[in-house]
Amino acid sequence: MKRTTWSNKEAVLGVTGSIAAYKACELASRLTELGVKVTPVLTESAAQLVGPASFEGITGQRAVTGMFEPLQNPEIEHIAVATRADLFLIAPATANVLAKAAHGMANDWLSTTLLATRAPILFAPAMNTNMYTHPATQANIATLRARGCHFVGPDNGRLACKTVGPGRLIDPGIILETALILMHSKKDLAGKRVLITSGGTHEPMDPVRYIGNRSSGKMGRALAFEALLRGASVSVVSGPCEAEMPHGADVIHAETAREMAVAVAEQLPSADVFVAAAAVADYRPAELSAGKRKRTGEAISITLEENPDILAGAGSQRRDGQVIVGFAAETSDAVAEGRRKLERKGAQILVANRVGAAGSGFGAEQLEAWLLDDSGRADELGRVRKDTVAQMVFDAVAERLP
Ligand code: C5P
Repeated sequence: MKRTTWSNKEAVLGVTGSIAAYKACELASRLTELGVKVTPVLTESAAQLVGPASFEGITGQRAVTGMFEPLQNPEIEHIAVATRADLFLIAPATANVLAKAAHGMANDWLSTTLLATRAPILFAPAMNTNMYTHPATQANIATLRARGCHFVGPDNGRLACKTVGPGRLIDPGIILETALILMHSKKDLAGKRVLITSGGTHEPMDPVRYIGNRSSGKMGRALAFEALLRGASVSVVSGPCEAEMPHGADVIHAETAREMAVAVAEQLPSADVFVAAAAVADYRPAELSAGKRKRTGEAISITLEENPDILAGAGSQRRDGQVIVGFAAETSDAVAEGRRKLERKGAQILVANRVGAAGSGFGAEQLEAWLLDDSGRADELGRVRKDTVAQMVFDAVAERLP
């Protein structure tokens, strides 16, 4: 099994003179941790705010700070880097660098190399709100977008200049994900719509209590990100859970199984792929008490009625060419139970996984899983990370897409 590796990727991290420059250290660190070779480039004003030594320590690469510094390393000669890089990430990007890039100016290392490169360029703007909303900056952004440059953020919020509004550097985690999507070379889901259910459900019994489950939403999140990496447009119907979906996914929130079923029914006709990863409650309290239930001093019983089976519903209406994937969390006989579910629910692919063991399943980073399909395939994946499961699922999906 070939896992996504970032160690053959190279990124230029351009840091410009916004107060948010220190946040670029986190980006440098997270990219480096993944294996990406990062060449840090600091403009003159950025170097006044954060020392190049920080970036060198984090990336293990020499930071570029000037056009005419003695070249101790011919590797960072600007044309060579411009040609080699898989991505130019400018974070934070000031109004100044946007203006220079929009007008093709080349008066320092970064602006020169931005002209020389044909790699994707991603700007994460950060500046005062008035500077950001100024027609000059907006026109520069429009020009750069029209030329194919990518933008992430800015966020709305409190800025260093004590104003509140757009101009805050967007969360580095979101910048990182956007950068990875741009660097990922396999785009076998381009043009496809992937619909995913994720998280658990809450089935209310009175205004304050519900029946729920331990689903963290991490599997759904891994699936959504893998589909985005591979070029799909992704919608997630998410039940309550701790995991936040990737920035690029369109998220529809649902609380109960019935709400989830309604949202899926709306999205399903336009989906090429449906992955049911949510832990949906099979039953809900039959009666929703209007007031909070009181202690009675005696045992009480609650009648439960069956919820719709969203996966089975999708399986029964599957149209030609649509690929449907289910999950089956089992405490025993995972493969046999998984195979029964795959057939009963009309899925083409199903991930059977064992729950109940420590460090695997609900809430954990890993699954003990098997990949089954309707042609009889039953691959034992072993104990694998959720992002690896997501990769294997979409490898199997891609083989079936028309
Ligand atoms: O029957 P079981 O709940 O174990 O089946 C698990 C699979 O069915 C998962 O893919 C889950 O997302 C889906 N499911 C569903 N609607 C339900 C129950 C389960 O879509 N009401």
